[in-house]
Order: sequence, then structure tokens, then C-alpha cells
Amino acid sequence: MIKRRLPKPGTIEVNPSILAADFARLADELAVVEKAGVKMVHLDIMDGHFVPNITIGPPVVEKLREHSNLFFDAHLMITDPRKYAPAFVKAGVNNITFHIEVEKKPAEFIRILHGMGVTAGVCLNPETPVKAIEKIAHLADMILVMTVHPGFGGQKFIVSAAKKIRTVRNIVGPKIRVEVDGGIDVKTTPIVVGYGADTLVAGRAIFGEKNRIAAINAIRRASK
Ligand code: DX5
Ligand code: ZN
Repeated sequence: MIKRRLPKPGTIEVNPSILAADFARLADELAVVEKAGVKMVHLDIMDGHFVPNITIGPPVVEKLREHSNLFFDAHLMITDPRKYAPAFVKAGVNNITFHIEVEKKPAEFIRILHGMGVTAGVCLNPETPVKAIEKIAHLADMILVMTVHPGFGGQKFIVSAAKKIRTVRNIVGPKIRVEVDGGIDVKTTPIVVGYGADTLVAGRAIFGEKNRIAAINAIRRASK
């Protein structure tokens, strides 16, 4: 089995969110972004309960795994991540990010995820203060700052939420990835990179464009 690792901190990674991709042609969409040289892809998992939308579950992830060598970064927007994490790991995801809003013992859950052989991300909704993750942030591999209310792609970037990236970066230092998700495009990329984000999730700005490769390169240029 190929061991897929979260790219080491110190590089800016564009992380395409398949939420905006053509769901009937997901394997082809992954092949195109892989051609652009991305190392990871962001899988938005929604349960219709934690967020008012439903996307894909383990069976779809398992089939996608057969078609792609990319690092699968699963963003679980679900009420009970502990219940479903094992199924997603079995299906082939490499990182699991859960929401701090639904987890009472995050340190324990991070340990469980590491024990299952995946990296662990902790996510903050736009209205959740950084304080909520302060004590456990150093245990995680990645902190995800939402810059839209989770549930849908193509929403407007929330500037006040992005400002939290700076505080998160100050807490975790350079050795943990700080991911940002929601409304990332060529205009917002310089702002979030300036605050210290190094992992840029982008849905509409990539899959909403005819030429996905050019769109990824444009975000890369904007990050420099
Ligand atoms: C939102 C998801 C995001 C979404 C971002 O609930 O978590 O990953 O795909 O989409 P854009 O980049 O279009 O804002
Ligand atoms: Zn996401």
C-alpha cells in the first residue's frame, strides 16, 4: 500500500474541494487536478444534520481511492465524526478533520485518529473563537479555519473569520498546517496567506473554471 502523507509544513498547498466538481465525473476531475501537480484533494462530507446539505459517504470515497493517488483530506461536517471515522479511514482517506463544535474530548479523538493511521485536523466555524482549540491545537496535524458557514460552495468570504488565522498561526507555530476553507480565490489568497495560512481549499475558484489547471496556477501565483 502506498503511504500518503500530509505535505510537510513550509509549503503552500492548493487543495481543490471536489464539492464544486462534476459529481458524475469525479475520477476524471481528480485526474485533472493531479495533472496540475496538487498533492492533496479536499473531500467535503456532509450529513444533512450538522450542516443543511448532504454529499458523499464512504462507498464513494472507496471507489475514488481506486482512481487516485492524491492525499485525501476529509472534512467531516457531520454531527458524529467518531461514529463514521473508521468507515472513512477504511475507504482510504488520509486525513480526517472534525469540527470542534461537536467534539467534547478532542485530544482523545485526535489520539484515536492517529491510532487509525491518519492525520487529524480540527476545524473552527466562523463564529467559533480560537480559544476553543487553544489547549489541543498542538496535538493536531492541521487546524482548519472556516471562512464561510459550512454546507455550501461558492459563498462569500467572511473577512472577520479569516482574521482568526493569524491567532491560530501564533498558537501552533510553523510546524502545523493552517488550512483555510471558503471563498478562496485569487483575490482572497493573498489575504489568508498574509495571515499565515498554508493550505488553501478552493472549490468554485477551481472547478467553476473551464481550465482547472490554469485556475490552480493562478491561485499559486496569488499566494506568492
Ligand atoms: C463548505 C466546504 C468547502 C467548500 C468551499 O462547506 O467546506 O470546502 O467546498 O467552496 P468554495 O471554495 O467554492 O467556497
Ligand atoms: Zn471543506
